[in-house]
Amino acid sequence: MPIIHHHISALRATLQLYRAKQQRIALVPTMGNLHDGHLELVKIAKQHADIVVVSIFVNPTQFGVGEDFDSYPRTLDNDVEKLANVGADYVFAPSIDEMYPVLPPPTSVLAGEIAGQLCGQSRPSHFDGVGIVVSKLFNIVQPDVAIFGQKDYQQLAIIKQLVRDLSYAIDIIGAPIVRAADGLALSSRNQYLSESERQTAPILQQELQYLAKQIGDGKYEQQGFEEVLEESRQRITRAGFIIDYLEIKTAELTAIAHKHASVSDNQTFVILVAAWLGRARLLDNQLVTVKQPL
Ligand code: PAF
Repeated sequence: MPIIHHHISALRATLQLYRAKQQRIALVPTMGNLHDGHLELVKIAKQHADIVVVSIFVNPTQFGVGEDFDSYPRTLDNDVEKLANVGADYVFAPSIDEMYPVLPPPTSVLAGEIAGQLCGQSRPSHFDGVGIVVSKLFNIVQPDVAIFGQKDYQQLAIIKQLVRDLSYAIDIIGAPIVRAADGLALSSRNQYLSESERQTAPILQQELQYLAKQIGDGKYEQQGFEEVLEESRQRITRAGFIIDYLEIKTAELTAIAHKHASVSDNQTFVILVAAWLGRARLLDNQLVTVKQPL
């Protein structure tokens, strides 16, 4: 069973012992309610470190007003059991007071321009909240490596930027999306789906695959990216989703010219979607490499 720490000082003292023995420490930050996607992050962490710390903290600063902070599932006992099966060593499960002596914290780690787009449009303070909590976790655990899922593509890009700009000596590993057999990306929020919504949900991933094929095959050359995306938005909406965004960006999340874009051979793009289905806001993304130059 992993050992649970609720206090920063106790966790720090414990980890110091491993550091003194030159052992590598990995951090897997989570908000709990763990599913196979999280467990995969732990398995990857074990390949890169001697000791794996999983943080479980439903971080209030990354939830906006009216979002699901209060109802977000808190399942610590179950989570710890699951973590035991994949060999996590420590769980850090602090209280809100332990993490935030003052709430909201007067200090912020601004996530910058990259955070203003995509999820940042509808959740304007979200990435500032992610930035501060991840910075605190990095300072508390001082890991050699930290693992984040690629499902939250924008979050991963922002964390890489944070590590670069604040000179954290931490390797960031992006772990591939883990999917259910029908293609739905695993997420703690999938449990908000009703049975019939759960049947509909995989359409999002199917649409991304279809779009990736169209773009990979060069359909955007005649129509421009925006028209191809718009047809896709209409299909997703007809299936019952309310789209937050469906966009195509460079892999670094910079904008690309939509109409008759000049695309170089083997250039990689990412198609990103966020869409509501009932109470669940689903996120997914798909990389696409354009093979033929225009
Ligand atoms: O991806 C998440 O679960 C959260 O945003 C994170 C990185 C644990 C920060 O609270």
